[in-house]
Amino acid sequence: MSIRTLDDLLAEGVSGRRVLVRADLNVPLDKQTGAITDDGRIRAVLPTLGALTEAGAKVVVCSHLGRPKGSPDPQFSLSPVAGRLGELLGAPVHFATDTVGESAQATVSALADGEVALLENLRFNKGETSKDDAERGAFADQLAAFGDAYVDDAFGAVHRKHASVYDVPARLPHVAGRLVLREVEVLSTLTGNPERPYVVVLGGSKVSDKLAVIEALLPTVDRLLIGGGMCFTFLKAQGHEVGTSLLEKDMVETCRNLLERSEGKIMLPVDVVAADAFAPDAAHDVVPANGIPSHRVGLDIGPETVAGFAAALRGSSADGTANARTIFWNGPMGVFEMAAFANGTRGVAEAIAESDAFSVVGGGDSAAAVRALGLDEKSFGHISTGGGASLEYLEGKTLPGIAALEN
Ligand code: 3PG
Ligand code: MG
Repeated sequence: MSIRTLDDLLAEGVSGRRVLVRADLNVPLDKQTGAITDDGRIRAVLPTLGALTEAGAKVVVCSHLGRPKGSPDPQFSLSPVAGRLGELLGAPVHFATDTVGESAQATVSALADGEVALLENLRFNKGETSKDDAERGAFADQLAAFGDAYVDDAFGAVHRKHASVYDVPARLPHVAGRLVLREVEVLSTLTGNPERPYVVVLGGSKVSDKLAVIEALLPTVDRLLIGGGMCFTFLKAQGHEVGTSLLEKDMVETCRNLLERSEGKIMLPVDVVAADAFAPDAAHDVVPANGIPSHRVGLDIGPETVAGFAAALRGSSADGTANARTIFWNGPMGVFEMAAFANGTRGVAEAIAESDAFSVVGGGDSAAAVRALGLDEKSFGHISTGGGASLEYLEGKTLPGIAALEN
């Protein structure tokens, strides 16, 4: 791969130079209080930022947060992120209240060597996500004016053809940051020649989001375990009723087809936790996957399924399966944010943590689940900061942000 790295840039010397860093500081916020509920993505860019400040660069950080619609929207302000970033860096972060306007210009020009500024949410500007090359380009020109060099450390956004990801690197000397390099290094071992057995666990709500990755993975994996909201469309495809559970009707046929072609590699739940309502205190029972009552909604995989999935991950002498040597996991097994429906995700996460396979956790939600459930991050081989990005990487797609660094 012909990508220049942060070390190449540091070797040139960055003291006194302005370095524009694209980070993915798109962290989850508490809906009531606006507080940051998981700062994993902020921590993940510290190595790159630390190396730059230590070398005396003027560091200008930019990021998106959420999906505002191209104009300022206070609920998506990066201001709380600036505060947390400053705490973690142990130095104040100068926050610009716009992205490329007067505040940004003043903030960047006042930066001293070794200091850090954070610009307001990139997506407060139409040009960031525009499909029109000229509109994106015009915004990229404004952003590029803040740097003498560009570092992409926003792995979670490399699959977006956005101005800050795709067009800015065409305008400045550009390198990959530490996080982007590490992510690509790890994910490329999964697409290259993973040690076998290679077991993939997929969850999350929508089959349609995961279809491409399932197609891409089926020939490669030894086992594909499916839980989460998406399992109900598969159960339906097997001919089971799923009550009021999540169902993508137009995907049932596709799922049936996948099951037929999967050579028995796909494992589905045999029991589920079915509730009266989508609520933390709803009445609920464990029911067989082929016996979900018509008025009930499946919100988690059941204990027998967890045991079966754990056996597939850890190996089981009973059915002669071997320990997985490589594991990729993306997507929660149930509504883990509600304690009553967190056991499936916890059980599968624990089985992954306990296995001695090289394990990769992909995605914002699964990574947040690991931390929210209090599991030790060190018992996983790698926790990716990218959800969509890691899936698209495994699909073998060209990622605009990576392609831009290669040029
Ligand atoms: C993510 O959270 O998946 C990344 O930050 C990308 O965000 P997006 O899906 O809104 O582009
Ligand atoms: Mg996403």
